[in-house]
Amino acid sequence: MSPFRIAVFASGKGSNFQALVDAQLSGALGGDICILVCDKPQAPVVELAAAANVDTFVFQPKEYASKEEYERNIAVELQQRGVELIVLAGYMRLLSPSFVEFYSGRIINIHPSLLPAFPGKDAIGQALAYGVKLTGVTVHFVDGGMDTGPVIAQKAVEIKEGDTAEVLAERIHHVEQRLYSEVVSWFAQRRISLNGRNVTIAE
Ligand code: GRF
Repeated sequence: MSPFRIAVFASGKGSNFQALVDAQLSGALGGDICILVCDKPQAPVVELAAAANVDTFVFQPKEYASKEEYERNIAVELQQRGVELIVLAGYMRLLSPSFVEFYSGRIINIHPSLLPAFPGKDAIGQALAYGVKLTGVTVHFVDGGMDTGPVIAQKAVEIKEGDTAEVLAERIHHVEQRLYSEVVSWFAQRRISLNGRNVTIAE
């Protein structure tokens, strides 16, 4: 059977990308990361991809007439490689409704809070400012909204007295890296099914 083919979209540091690569190398992912899509040529994640021998599609949005135009180019890259799952890992750009619609049920995202609490930017700062005692990580399907798609998996992370945003972020990132690889492996094993907003993971 051909390997389950994965695209990762990222714009930044790439700690989740690296964790996925490591999981692939150890055999735990059960899939093949065949392309990194990145909208920031200077992002550290681009170097991580080179070091891991993962193909990249790196682009600068301002060099295209429209979002539709660069997304068409992305879609060609994905189709050429037979990508089955798009994994957003700190991709700081909203996908157009037509792209999301086309890949419906095949795009997932990771967000550093227990959704629906604290969607959008700076979820960690939002949780600290609100004063919650428990926050966490959510992996969810991507739909047309901002962090609103069906929840696939969540893990709680305790907020401790005196936590700064940096300390809390480090704890959250650690949890993210483990959870994301595990969820992607469920997809590779074809254990995930979606019924309305309800996600089931087969044993
Ligand atoms: C992560 O915190 C993720 O939850 C959010 O973007 C961040 C990406 O970090 N969506 P990294 O680039 O994987 O280190």
